[in-house]
Amino acid sequence: MAEPLETDYLVIGSGIAGLNFALLAAEHGRVVVATKKKLADTNTNWAQGGVAAVLAPDDTFERHVQDTLNAGDGLCDRRIVEMCVQDGPHEVERLLQLGVRLARNDHGDLDLGMEGAHTRHRVVHWEDVTGREIQRALIAAAMRHPNITVLEHHYAVDLLSMAKYGGDPACFGAYVLDSKSGEVKTICARATVLATGGAGKVWIYTSNPDVATGDGVAMAYRIGAACGDLEFMQFHPTVLYHPMAGSFLISEALRGEGGVLRTARGDEFMQSYSPMGSLAARDVVARAIDKELKKSGDDCVYLDMTRLDPAMVRSRFPNIYERCLSLGIDITKQGIPVVPAAHFMCGGIKTDDHGATTIPGLYAIGECAFTGLHGANRLASNSLLEGMVFSTRAARAVQEAPSRRPSQVATWSAGNATDSNDAIVVSLNWDEIRRFMWSYVGIVRSDKRLERARRRIEILRDEIREYYIDFKITGDLLELRNLALVAHLIIESARRRKESRGLHYTLDYPEKLPDARHSEIQLTDGPRG
Ligand code: SIN
Repeated sequence: MAEPLETDYLVIGSGIAGLNFALLAAEHGRVVVATKKKLADTNTNWAQGGVAAVLAPDDTFERHVQDTLNAGDGLCDRRIVEMCVQDGPHEVERLLQLGVRLARNDHGDLDLGMEGAHTRHRVVHWEDVTGREIQRALIAAAMRHPNITVLEHHYAVDLLSMAKYGGDPACFGAYVLDSKSGEVKTICARATVLATGGAGKVWIYTSNPDVATGDGVAMAYRIGAACGDLEFMQFHPTVLYHPMAGSFLISEALRGEGGVLRTARGDEFMQSYSPMGSLAARDVVARAIDKELKKSGDDCVYLDMTRLDPAMVRSRFPNIYERCLSLGIDITKQGIPVVPAAHFMCGGIKTDDHGATTIPGLYAIGECAFTGLHGANRLASNSLLEGMVFSTRAARAVQEAPSRRPSQVATWSAGNATDSNDAIVVSLNWDEIRRFMWSYVGIVRSDKRLERARRRIEILRDEIREYYIDFKITGDLLELRNLALVAHLIIESARRRKESRGLHYTLDYPEKLPDARHSEIQLTDGPRG
């Protein structure tokens, strides 16, 4: 039986938070980065907008704080918002030091973009592919670092908990499946850092890549970590609507540059929903589009860029321009067909200011974490900022993490599991969850819809549990197991919120309650494998 692998820090996930953490932590310890696919298969790599930070002479920390609080609809933690906003300029400086290219204006200053619900220009970016540029620079630096070991095609199965050995519920690593060889490795670490990104794949329509299956939240929940605010899934208002497009985001930066939303009949409708028009906060715009589509019966609305200078549109948004053109849409001459789609998980695994979860030895950073920054609705381009701020802070905090592990660690046992002869079950269950989550736990919810979703997820989770015991694990099965658990947690969190706030809108409780409260959800009957 293979000996456990030992390291100081185990990072699961390789987006902005995971790799920035790895680079900083590698200055004081050995780091293993395990990632499900290739290093660049992350949500970060797909991010278009940029990083929000106070850099303009007419901007202030208080303005950025206020914009974040307003978007968050009364539920942000002001202290955390202030902390992130104040760390922003420093984190942009770090990106530049890492070799990230950021667009500059004619004076050589950083070009600052505008996005929805911001009252100042403050989004640093690289054309319309900022995430890809950040990912490139982080990968280059991580591959050069002698203290970082990268394990691609490695799926985390479950976190290792001292509770299984009769101790306190501390975490000391993870079982990780090498999807090429089928071997499940045991990796022990002083600190285990979840940087697994979001859960957009819980819904059928999403802007996220295939890897966004909520793995971190599911694994943390299974060993008893507190999670919160999972009902607040952000639906991005503008994802390209085209049969050949897959999940392709049309960045909010287009509206920041002057793009306006129109119905199929050409009516500009956003002014009747918000004085900020097409640049209102995302929850407002997504709900307005949903309402317009239900009213008209149309399949999509249109983002109109045709009144803007075509040369500016082509040079500021080269990636979006080319992608649309390849599908026969010239965005300088015609409206872009768009619909809302699941985009960002505002809640997640509860953490403190340094990314520490409620389980000793376990940290969560980036989208999988619930830090209190976003409240009920995230402000555009605050997510890459959050990833940088909390990974930097966590890398400092883990230095103090004591080594906790049993003297004898049990390696993975597959029990009597056999090779699956029924893999179709995985794809059918996956599809069913994503479809009913869209219909019943989408932009507009109700008690009845949530109850329908609850009944369905219970049946499917029973089936998945059975399948998980009987058959050898695969990457697809692990993702389905996590996706189903996260769907269950989202449904439960949504059922408990008896009000409409930010991204959670329900027909049965259309008003906001006077007291803004976070929701919390935690496994109370001990860790479950
Ligand atoms: C976008 O470019 O619209 C997405 C940016 C974000 O999600 O903050």
